[in-house]
Amino acid sequence: MKTFLLKEKDLGFFPDWEDIFGRKAPIYLEIGMGNGEFSIWLAQNNPHINVIGIDVSKEIIRKAERKVNKANLENLRIVRIEGAKALCKLFNPQSLMAVFMNFPDPWTKKSHKERRIINDAFCYLLGDRLEIEGYFIMATDSLDYANYTVEIFEKVGVFKSLWEKSIINDFPGYYKTKYARKWISMGLPIYYIGYKKMKTIEIPSWVKDFYPLLKLEKEEIIMPYIIVEIKEDPKIEEVLKILPKGIYERNNKIVNYLSFYSKENEILIDTVVVEGSLRQRFFISLYLNDHKLKISIHEATDPDPTYGVHESIAIIFSYLYKRFNELKILQNTCKKEIVEELLKQ
Ligand SMILES: C[S@@+](CC[C@H](N)C(=O)[O-])C[C@H]1O[C@@H](n2cnc3c(N)ncnc32)[C@H](O)[C@@H]1O
Repeated sequence: MKTFLLKEKDLGFFPDWEDIFGRKAPIYLEIGMGNGEFSIWLAQNNPHINVIGIDVSKEIIRKAERKVNKANLENLRIVRIEGAKALCKLFNPQSLMAVFMNFPDPWTKKSHKERRIINDAFCYLLGDRLEIEGYFIMATDSLDYANYTVEIFEKVGVFKSLWEKSIINDFPGYYKTKYARKWISMGLPIYYIGYKKMKTIEIPSWVKDFYPLLKLEKEEIIMPYIIVEIKEDPKIEEVLKILPKGIYERNNKIVNYLSFYSKENEILIDTVVVEGSLRQRFFISLYLNDHKLKISIHEATDPDPTYGVHESIAIIFSYLYKRFNELKILQNTCKKEIVEELLKQ
């Protein structure tokens, strides 16, 4: 059976949706689609639009995939990806006609509120990705989340409520999802929020710090690796001994080399990089062969090549550079400014 599930890895950065759908049409995105029924309803009832449903959960996507494949709608695709990451990676500025969020996890405990997908930075990001006159609709069972969201949208200043009141309880004609039905059956109210984008928005630099994927220019999205020639021809154990271990904190980025595994001529480093709201875990490989050493991201892992990921490779290179006298760079895709800065230290 044909699958309508697309893989994040295959999509890369800024995929050509026109090509994927085989036609140009307004794009409607649902974030946190759960079992997929809302996206199916949207696509079925609006054949003139292209619908993309996303969810962060592997298990949930698997269930949605079955439903979506069965629905067999040419104007619907689904992807497993986190919502803010999808907005950063998959959509160009001013490319979305509508974004829906039905019952996002409300994280009502005070100490958990920062886990909410909606925050000031998200609102700027959404504002950038929506077309002018594009809109955002959210349904929630939490009045606290509803009020909090309204406050953020009003503050950013480029949105206008779709309705006279910023929160409504009655939205005839709007599909009632599994969670909506659950709250309705318990006799509880649902809060709907709708905002239309009225003008363009500039993404401030603090938002780019929060979502580091926004800092990547299309042409510089490349996996970092460095190949060096070491005249001394060291053994893998010698290389292992001099590698950086533990945590490196620089320019609001944290690189943590957690553990090291070595075999004959390769070292694998379990690495975590944290930048803003993004945490990525992957393996760095050091492959030694006939005087040549390649420092790269191991192919089994697939982080997005942010500045922090470049830095994790460059730090290792700088340690080797300082230890081996006759070391020559043969190939380097690591950002030059990062490498140069590290070598100066
Ligand atoms: C409470 S359920 C609602 C499901 C569905 N929208 C409904 O109304 O029945 C929230 C859904 O959002 C997904 N989710 C939570 N955080 C997310 C995020 N940051 N990005 C994408 N999906 C997310 C969860 O996996 C879950 O499927």
